[in-house]
Amino acid sequence: MASNKKLLVLPGDGIGPEVMAQVARVAEWFDRKRAIGFDLEEDLVGGAAIDAHGTPLADATMDKALAADAVLLGAVGGPKWDDLPFEQKPERGLLRLRKEMALFANLRPALCFAPLVEASTLKPEVVSGLDLMIVRELTGGVYFGEPRGIETLSDGQRRGVNTQVYTTEEIRRVAAVAFELARKRANKLCSVEKANVMESGVLWREEVTRLHGESYLDVELSHMYADNCAMQLVRAPKQFDVIVTDNLFGDMLSDAAAMLTGSLGMLPSASLGAADETGRRRALYEPVHGSAPDIAGRGKANPLACVLSFAMLLRYSLDQGAEADLLENAVEVVLASGKRTPDILQPGHEAVSTEAMGDAVLAELDRLGG
Ligand code: IPM
Ligand code: MG
Repeated sequence: MASNKKLLVLPGDGIGPEVMAQVARVAEWFDRKRAIGFDLEEDLVGGAAIDAHGTPLADATMDKALAADAVLLGAVGGPKWDDLPFEQKPERGLLRLRKEMALFANLRPALCFAPLVEASTLKPEVVSGLDLMIVRELTGGVYFGEPRGIETLSDGQRRGVNTQVYTTEEIRRVAAVAFELARKRANKLCSVEKANVMESGVLWREEVTRLHGESYLDVELSHMYADNCAMQLVRAPKQFDVIVTDNLFGDMLSDAAAMLTGSLGMLPSASLGAADETGRRRALYEPVHGSAPDIAGRGKANPLACVLSFAMLLRYSLDQGAEADLLENAVEVVLASGKRTPDILQPGHEAVSTEAMGDAVLAELDRLGG
């Protein structure tokens, strides 16, 4: 019998713990009913770790993350920790995980479930049937570039500095992930930068084009400036299949793409490292939404982005595509039944709490695959 998969669960702050509680129930269901064994271990990240250990990610937690088969993360941050010095903020815990696990490829699928077509702020015909994937570079660019900092100039003014920087290899490895994904989908890749104003964008475009010529001529490649891409995402998002872009543009474009699906509460993500000799990749799964402190602890949070992140874990870390499909189908049926958390509630639907949404997903899993 295959050994149990070791999952490190980091609920984090705000709505993180309450959405993660529902995911733990889903994992337990797969463990019990579907012969995929899980060992879940929970630890602290973000503000919760600051309160307990004085740091947003303890070294011991980092070690556990490196040793796990996969990490599941809820959300980090909140007003309580807003005034901390930059290096001690909750977000630094998440960025350290990404950097030290070398999770350079962040997959953010924006899929509009049929029952949610009306929940989007965009017209139904614009979003119905939408299925696009943003591949965001996650360990480079302006998030990590040096030099960085805030300095005081001789005339007393202050100067804030960040550096946008990419190397050939950083661009090629994330582009390769995106090309491979495109091959399994509609075979179209759009590479996004601002080569009109940034040298790093010029290099990005050149390297993606070169890799395409070397290994991926079967994939249809196009290029787009990031500002135009933001506009095209809300104008005609179905023109896209896979988008590959840098860390900062990917952060912004994925929030925009999230709203095409009805709610930020619906968007999952997978962050992957390089494959080792056995094909295994380090991986972290998290909802794209943040900690939403305004609604935390009130049973209002939508757990589905986190549940769908667990489906991505099944697909990408455990190679259990059929089990991931089962979970995604369960979510779609629950949505079709009209059960909605407040973020996707529409007239005529039934308002449910975070936990009741978890109940509904479990009941549907029992019906479909128990
Ligand atoms: C995201 C978030 C993070 C980011 C924050 C919380 C550091 O916005 O994952 O999109 O900027 O990458
Ligand atoms: Mg973001």
